[in-house]
Amino acid sequence: MNPNLNQLQAYPFARLRLATEGISPPDGATPIPLHIGEPKHPTPKIITDALTANIDKLSVYPATAGLPELKQACAEWLHRRYDGLTVNAQTEVLPVLGSREALFSFVQTVINAAADKQPIVVCPNPFYQIYEGAALLAGARVVFANCNAPRFLPNWADISEADWQQTQLVFVCSPNNPSGAVMNQQEWAELFALQDQYGFIIASDECYSEIYFDQKPLGALQAAAQLGRGFDKLVMFTSLSKRSNAPGLRSGFVAGDAKLLEAFLLYRTYHGSAMSLPIQYASMAAWQDEQHVEENRRLYREKFAAILPILAETFEIQQPDASFYIWLKVPGGNDLAFTQTLWREAAIQVLPGRFLGRDTANGNAGMGYVRIALVAPLEQCIAAAHKIVGCAKNLTV
Ligand SMILES: Cc1ncc(COP(=O)(O)O)c(C=O)c1O
Repeated sequence: MNPNLNQLQAYPFARLRLATEGISPPDGATPIPLHIGEPKHPTPKIITDALTANIDKLSVYPATAGLPELKQACAEWLHRRYDGLTVNAQTEVLPVLGSREALFSFVQTVINAAADKQPIVVCPNPFYQIYEGAALLAGARVVFANCNAPRFLPNWADISEADWQQTQLVFVCSPNNPSGAVMNQQEWAELFALQDQYGFIIASDECYSEIYFDQKPLGALQAAAQLGRGFDKLVMFTSLSKRSNAPGLRSGFVAGDAKLLEAFLLYRTYHGSAMSLPIQYASMAAWQDEQHVEENRRLYREKFAAILPILAETFEIQQPDASFYIWLKVPGGNDLAFTQTLWREAAIQVLPGRFLGRDTANGNAGMGYVRIALVAPLEQCIAAAHKIVGCAKNLTV
């Protein structure tokens, strides 16, 4: 067995199941699942139509590199979305099977475990759990940069000079899961300055980039271009899961440094992660259409507009920059007890922030917060918000 497997922790949802085992919700109450960030709006017909129209292509082995037309569609989308950003469709774009597997396999491609000193991967804390698992399985050590109030973005000062020297890869997640915070130009400039100093690769996870309210989130490649930089050692990851309500399609792409993508393609060729052709055609249709994305944003905006004022009665709360999450500060600070109370008293499932974070010398920045995913239908989200307020008022934890 790979000994690195022993370092992996149980996934947050498994920990949540354990934490609520033996707690019964009220009799007859229908559970309201707000713990998992799984989009629930319907998958647009243009996607399902393109999928079925191309179903005969299941008879063909797809190439790992993806169809040139799909790569072109992705590059054109980047161009429209990021104010004229120009990427080479054939060398700077690679289709992947959703961002999860790509975030994982990219780490296996780029980490050099045979370096003189054990490689370090820097992760935000709290964070999307794949970053840590991928790093550990690649033989790296993970060092965390806490995301604390008020910005909820990584505090790079948490990383010591000695650790920076060993850092091969830094993960950023903007818009951030769980806080929804978006890195601005100044924050990118600071990270690029560190990159120039220490030479690490940046993996920018941007799968929530299309779920925003007012301002389109800045992307990593866009920030680099605006600062007059190339894409050296910079790769962004995106997907159709949230943008197009198609988490089951398993489709996304990575874009950026052509040399890194060449190595990544080689890795993926052996790993066996080519996208099936019907999915490639459905993905093309999705990347070429913005109307369904605007409608999707409208639905999330409607939910936030209805729910934030209800929660604001009791909680210190503000609209996130982007994403469909509310990162809610728990009165009294016990996120785990509050999660259990919500389940016991209201059949509401949320995720305790501590399960998304790790203990560090500066604490676990997930502690004291719960993550609420506004993925359920509007009426259910409103009902849940009232119940959450009720539970907070009775809070004895
Ligand atoms: C921050 C973040 N990155 C990546 C993913 C992976 O999404 P997908 O593989 O569906 O693109 C998720 C899914 O919830 C996520 O929250």
